[in-house]
Amino acid sequence: MERTKERWGTRIGLVLAMAGNAVGLGNFLRFPAQAVQNGGGAFIIPYLVSFVLMGLPLLWIEWAIGRHGGKYGHHSAPGMMDKLGHSRWLKYAGVFGIFTNLTIAAYYTYLESWTLGYVWYSLTGVFHNMSAHEVRDFFFWYVGAEGNPIINVSPHALFFFILTFTLNVWILSRGLSKGIETASKIGMPLLFIFGVFLAVRALTLNAGELNAINDALVGLNFLWNPKFESLADPKVWLAAAGQIFFTLSVGMGSIHCYAAYLRENEDIALNATTAGFTNEFVEVVLGGSIIIPIGVAYLGLDEVQRIVGLSMGFQTMPTLFQNWGPILAAVAGMAWFGLLFFAGITSSLAMGQPVVAFFHDEFHLDRKHAVRVYGVLLFILALPTILFFSHGAFGEYDDWSGTFSLVLFALIESIAFSWIFGIDRGWEEIQRGAELKIPIFFKFVMKYVTPLFLLGVFSGSLIAPKEGDWIAAFSQLFSGKGWPLDPNSILGKIFRVGVTDTRYFIDGEPTSIFIVDMTRLLLLVTFIGIACAVAYAWRHRKVQAEKGRTP
Ligand code: PHE
Repeated sequence: MERTKERWGTRIGLVLAMAGNAVGLGNFLRFPAQAVQNGGGAFIIPYLVSFVLMGLPLLWIEWAIGRHGGKYGHHSAPGMMDKLGHSRWLKYAGVFGIFTNLTIAAYYTYLESWTLGYVWYSLTGVFHNMSAHEVRDFFFWYVGAEGNPIINVSPHALFFFILTFTLNVWILSRGLSKGIETASKIGMPLLFIFGVFLAVRALTLNAGELNAINDALVGLNFLWNPKFESLADPKVWLAAAGQIFFTLSVGMGSIHCYAAYLRENEDIALNATTAGFTNEFVEVVLGGSIIIPIGVAYLGLDEVQRIVGLSMGFQTMPTLFQNWGPILAAVAGMAWFGLLFFAGITSSLAMGQPVVAFFHDEFHLDRKHAVRVYGVLLFILALPTILFFSHGAFGEYDDWSGTFSLVLFALIESIAFSWIFGIDRGWEEIQRGAELKIPIFFKFVMKYVTPLFLLGVFSGSLIAPKEGDWIAAFSQLFSGKGWPLDPNSILGKIFRVGVTDTRYFIDGEPTSIFIVDMTRLLLLVTFIGIACAVAYAWRHRKVQAEKGRTP
């Protein structure tokens, strides 16, 4: 088998790249939104428990699967999963590891491109004299949520997308060490500096100063004041576990890929733990100290709870920065969106590399061609999220790829690792070359707790009840009136709970239902396409091997 010689240049480069992989838009946009929506201090405990019982073990498992696969020349999930056991089905579980990366990259690169656009707007003072309302409308104009034509996007958004897309593809084409590692060595320190600057500015904001109505600490207090009663609420647990997944990039096949470029005996225990804790530091300390405290200082807690979401960073933050005077507003805007951009690009590169590696290893394309194939696929898959943004295409990607597939793949890989590969071999694999002794207690966690935890999260998202109210749902079930599925639960989506009008066209115009269904179809076709590619590659390899045996 042809072996690729690509390796990480330095250890610090590897850790920065892995931390860059994990630290992403999720840390600064998704985490604050999830925390606020799930009650602040109520969220933090399940979040930290999920990190220890599920996140950390999955990190070690994924680094181990990756390094083990790399030994056999596989740098993407299908080949790595194949090497965990004898079943020929294992490689198809690895299809998830290509599918999620490719489809998340599609909508994520688009989101990332907004941040680049907003760096430009901040620096050129576009928001300077705008009212809060105008800043919000600007965002709607930018993403094309204004009016209602089905295809709607501003030329600016297209421009910044193409720029971001090109940058991603270019960096990937430079290779692991010269491309990804260099980008991380530049991006991560800058991100950190911008983050510290904003967090310090945020936390020293007092009521009455620069138009603030509250001390910033009011927001921080909301986030950190533990509310233990939340421990009994499955809805909060599901949200917390989901955030751990997204932020650590576990269940995606991306960490596996980076780890596959390690040498056989290189440390994984300490490296994985360092990268994981770096991500948590950036998420809870920096990510928790920007949007929430600044938002609460200017708008009050109730208003922040009302408007918080993924797009608050774009719709609201530029207005709040204006309170700091034109120069500091431009600097803060540049720092905020710049930080998001660096967070984003070091993550989107991590989604691209497994796909590139797949075509390189399994189809023997050279790097340039593999990157080209990835670029074409990425572009095609990104288009629906851009053009039909306000009709739900973006959300469908996030639900099916960014939430559902991750949990399913993590569940499969944790079982494959602990039960098929075997926990004894697995533990040995993690400890080989380790510079950190992981407490033996985690061997037990990996074998039983993590898979069960994942099973719980998976089943929970499958049947999540209406409005996340489990207590009401159980009492309804026991009184014989059936289980009230939430429209956003997986089954609720499949069975279209709560949808009354299922027409695809009204007056000749396609409806949102049509867009949503077509998006799902596209995702399904993508998944099947990758599975066929895996089948083809393995069949081809078998034929080659047989030819080799009978010359
Ligand atoms: N962890 C990244 C974030 O927090 C997202 C990501 C997903 C990165 C998939 C790599 C692979 O935003």
